[in-house]
Amino acid sequence: MNIFNRETFRGDFTFRNSPAAIRRFPFPFHEDKYMYSVNIEPHLPGPAGSVYEHPIDIDEHYVSEMRDRALVLAEDPKRCQSLPHMITAEWDMLELLMTSMAEGYPELFTLNRDGDKWHWINRPLNIEDRFIFGDATTLPYGPMEYIGRQCQGDFSLQDHRENNLWMDAGIITTQADWSLDFDVGMNFTEWHGPVPLAHQARVFERALKFLLNLQLGQPARRLNWTMTINSRLDTSPENYHKWGTDRMTVTPENVGDKVHLRVELQGLWRLPRSNAVLFSIRCYLIKMSELVTVPKWARRFHRVLKTLPPELADYKGLTRYRDTTVEWLSQYDDGAPTSPGCGPE
Ligand code: HEM
Repeated sequence: MNIFNRETFRGDFTFRNSPAAIRRFPFPFHEDKYMYSVNIEPHLPGPAGSVYEHPIDIDEHYVSEMRDRALVLAEDPKRCQSLPHMITAEWDMLELLMTSMAEGYPELFTLNRDGDKWHWINRPLNIEDRFIFGDATTLPYGPMEYIGRQCQGDFSLQDHRENNLWMDAGIITTQADWSLDFDVGMNFTEWHGPVPLAHQARVFERALKFLLNLQLGQPARRLNWTMTINSRLDTSPENYHKWGTDRMTVTPENVGDKVHLRVELQGLWRLPRSNAVLFSIRCYLIKMSELVTVPKWARRFHRVLKTLPPELADYKGLTRYRDTTVEWLSQYDDGAPTSPGCGPE
């Protein structure tokens, strides 16, 4: 795996997936249509090479994504916030990520532990630190920010109290149009407020019930998706002025390169000391010209997008370029049935 790709995620055209990265893309659609559901499953190890092989997935865009995170945090420090009672959860998160990264990718990361004396080596980013686990003064940043700057994916930490989950900490720099600064301190029902149709279908009521019972050592996961114009990871409300108008630039000629399917692999872990819940949002981008190299995905995504309920299209911000994209995808849909499952045929 070459993790030293040099693309940027700032809306230019340098982003490409290797053929291997296209094959492992977590295509989220089981059938030719899409509606919200309580799509949660155990976060069990998957086949070698898949995004599910390790609990925390590191891929060829690692160095570029970490550079992008550093840039966003330099421009806007509020993308990383933690209320004072979350410090134990921050250490829990650091432990989970360091142990998973070192176990999954020993050639990239090493963690040596001698009681509370920890020694962490991150080779791709050229970082080596010795610190005392539990003593934040021995790290250059708080524990969540320290490891969050070294791990692909956004992370939020939820405190569990009053039969609810409260988003009381997070490091969020690659979000699909929601804001940590706005949501911090909200509970599960409140931060899901803007999502259409799902509340009426009691999706969130059931999902919350599941999460309140989440057990240590039995993580869960789900896939979420939206679309992005240009290879931009930071599509935050804070930077809407930078990316909002991109959605008006899609033409039949540039769909293949400009329009991306954006899939979030979301992991959920109960944490040992704090009893908090860690939520990871690992974002994968694939441009339409890459997606259609897998004929089943081309056919199925054409059908999903064509039949998507308007409320979902509006909420996901696709309305302006949906028809152009559906029309472009139609040349790859011969009407043949698609096989069961999400993987390539
Ligand atoms: C602690 C765990 C979770 C966190 C922190 C979280 C956070 C969020 C946030 C911030 C949004 C964006 C809302 C907005 O528009 O402002 C969202 C959307 C959504 N969430 Fe969650 N969520 C969590 C768990 C779940 C679970 C378990 C489900 C299961 C059904 C779920 C389903 C959804 C759906 C369907 C959307 C709309 C996404 C879209 O259409 O693009 N979430 N979530």
